[in-house]
Amino acid sequence: MAKILHKEKLSENVYKMKLEAKLIAEERKAGQFIILQIDEDFGERIPLTIADANVNEGSITIIFQVVGLTTDELSKLNVGDDIPVLVGPLGTPTHIKKHGTVVCVGGGIGVAPLHPIAEALKAAGNTVIIIIGARNKELIIMEDEMKKIADELIVCTDDGSYGRKSLVTQPLKEICERNEKPDFVIAIGPPIMMKFCAETTRPYNVYTEVSLNTIMVDGTGMCGGCRVNVGGEVKFVCVDGPEFDGHKVDFDNMMARLNSYKEIEHDKHSCYLDSMIQEKSL
Ligand SMILES: Cc1cc2nc3c(=O)[nH]c(=O)nc-3n(C[C@H](O)[C@H](O)[C@H](O)COP(=O)(O)OP(=O)(O)OC[C@H]3O[C@@H](n4cnc5c(N)ncnc54)[C@H](O)[C@@H]3O)c2cc1C
Ligand code: FES
Repeated sequence: MAKILHKEKLSENVYKMKLEAKLIAEERKAGQFIILQIDEDFGERIPLTIADANVNEGSITIIFQVVGLTTDELSKLNVGDDIPVLVGPLGTPTHIKKHGTVVCVGGGIGVAPLHPIAEALKAAGNTVIIIIGARNKELIIMEDEMKKIADELIVCTDDGSYGRKSLVTQPLKEICERNEKPDFVIAIGPPIMMKFCAETTRPYNVYTEVSLNTIMVDGTGMCGGCRVNVGGEVKFVCVDGPEFDGHKVDFDNMMARLNSYKEIEHDKHSCYLDSMIQEKSL
């Protein structure tokens, strides 16, 4: 059981929540996530990254985008409400070390999980270049927080409504072409963005880590729901990841698996909304 201590709307469909979770706050490391369930008996279990933690307060922060049924229900909870099931910290923490110059690339909601990693990479003595991007200005999140960490911050929007009008891969390519190319790149965002970040750095031979957001069920490596193909081997994102060598991930297979539930999820969400509307109008 975890009480909601704080709730904030960051942008259209993106919410930040602080949850009471003393033990998770004490144990968590950058790159790890929790799994939560809203309906204890029948609800689905969804993974969300621990964006921040406050050990003194005994709280963790999650930042999530409403994409379907459970994130929609979560967004409707308020301060004082309880989340009945909260498990974590899960996943292998990011391997933080001094690489030299690192580039942290965040797309859309991917900026939230990137934040603790960028912070830890900075604390480890790296020069940190951060690129954040979104479809438009309203969807840019955590710019101020990233500004505090970054030695250089580049903000991009697809439509040019804020910052530079480009995809995040364009400045990433330019950085790879500098006299001193980066020593390490980490990219977190939609699978297609991570795929193209990895393709951008591949010709420059810059090691590129990605944080995979597969569908998960148990979060313990037993159900097989989150399996991915990395370098020809089957890996489980929940226990072997979520971070992997982006040059070795079979993104096409991962995206096909993610899309395989799209229709069912969409129908379920629509049915649920229809029934809510009917209930209200009775
Ligand atoms: C390790 C990990 C960390 C994550 N951290 C965050 C985070 O910090 N913030 C955040 O907003 N989201 C995060 N996600 C994604 C989040 O788990 C999904 O958005 C959530 O499970 C969707 O649940 P839903 O019931 O609302 O949507 P559903 O109804 O289940 O799905 C709606 C649609 O969203 C898409 N979708 C579903 N699951 C995923 C997924 N895992 N990744 C991408 N698209 C998906 C599908 O197209 C689906 O049709 C993370 C995922 C993983 C694996
Ligand atoms: S979520 Fe079940 S194996 Fe990873």
